[in-house]
Amino acid sequence: MTRKLHIITFGCQMNEADSESIGNSFIKRGFELTDSLKGADAVVVNTCTVRQRAEDKAVSQIGRLRKWKLARPEGRVFVVGCAAQKLGGKYIKNRFPFVDEVIGAKSIDTVDAAVDAHFGGGPGNDEALKTMKSGVSAFVTAMRGCSLQCSYCVVPSVRGEAVCLPPEEILAEAAAKAAAGAGEIIILGQTVNSYSYRTPGGGTVSFADLLERTAALPGISRVRFMSPHPLFFSPGFFRLFRDNPKIARYVHLPVQSGSDRILKAMRRGYTRAQYLDIVAKIREAAPDAAVSTDFIVGYPGETEAEFRESLSLIAESGVSFAYCFKYSQRSDGQGLAPDLAEAEMKARLDRLLAEIRKNSRDILNSRIGRMEEVLIEDADSGRTSANFVARLEGKPGLRPGSLVKAEITGTHRNTLKGRLIS
Ligand code: 5AD
Ligand code: SF4
Repeated sequence: MTRKLHIITFGCQMNEADSESIGNSFIKRGFELTDSLKGADAVVVNTCTVRQRAEDKAVSQIGRLRKWKLARPEGRVFVVGCAAQKLGGKYIKNRFPFVDEVIGAKSIDTVDAAVDAHFGGGPGNDEALKTMKSGVSAFVTAMRGCSLQCSYCVVPSVRGEAVCLPPEEILAEAAAKAAAGAGEIIILGQTVNSYSYRTPGGGTVSFADLLERTAALPGISRVRFMSPHPLFFSPGFFRLFRDNPKIARYVHLPVQSGSDRILKAMRRGYTRAQYLDIVAKIREAAPDAAVSTDFIVGYPGETEAEFRESLSLIAESGVSFAYCFKYSQRSDGQGLAPDLAEAEMKARLDRLLAEIRKNSRDILNSRIGRMEEVLIEDADSGRTSANFVARLEGKPGLRPGSLVKAEITGTHRNTLKGRLIS
């Protein structure tokens, strides 16, 4: 009987991409993926530690596997990723002796060898790997780690310095995923637009080059990227963004705060005005582009007036959406302790969310009447280039992966409604 792997993934797209490649390591050795923990022979928990809550969730998930392992002593538990890196193998195995392997985010490359050590010699399954469907949209990692030093962020310490992968590797993976049915590739990196690769011949492959080459691969309708940093946009990027319609009209550009003093304390390296200038350049290159962002509320020392600068940035920048987080102290002892009462932290978060909802509604409404290209994800809905979900009227039953034209006729909650044109 085929052995089965259950993967539980916390955290960001980078982790999802890592989970996919970990899944492939198992599939190569004859495993199948399963959604059910009960029927699994091995479990991978891919953890996150970006905020304390993420780490707590991962840790309680590991705890819940105790019963599973008791019922199936021959089963294997792998704990991998960012919280595994931060907490360390010793701590995790001490607290959860039933865990078989702990592999931190910095050593994620060694998962394959560990799988081999536990399960090597199985009936290899390279064929399944090649034909594995990645869905309409597939992640491809271009950069690992981060070399910035934002004061609040644990990522550089758990994922290490930024490393750019060779362009041939990235393009080969994108091409394989396109051949398996992915019409859209999402290029990933912590500061993805700082991508720059020196070739052995002495040339440089820039972020814009990488996007352009990915967009030129057969079968690719659209290329997205996550997440850029305001410090690393180049004129070459804006030119490509303006001229190549396959580069999605959507930029997720985390700002974190609207206050210059807080941005400086966070060591973000830009001011509010510089952030707004980048957003303006994005819109200048592609007037229909949508920009979304991330905010942290309650950074230590954030005053009511400084918080209001985050509030006012929403309308001023015209972001279509924002993820908002309460400040969470990370590195023990080193990062600043929060100094805002929990109730006030929550109140600020709620005010920010309300402002975003209001603004998102206006932006969604402004799309009515437009003609949009929709990349179909299931039979009747898909995403526009600016990353809005569009549902098509009359249940047209389209093939996932097809790119269709639709007229936007209205909105429904957070999504657009559209009429199929062709
Ligand atoms: N506290 C709260 N939010 C954080 N983020 C990163 N570190 C922290 C922290 N210590 C948020 C940022 C980042 C997103 C991925 O998570 O907004 O952009
Ligand atoms: Fe992703 Fe950061 Fe969480 Fe690691 S800690 S999974 S890099 S969000």
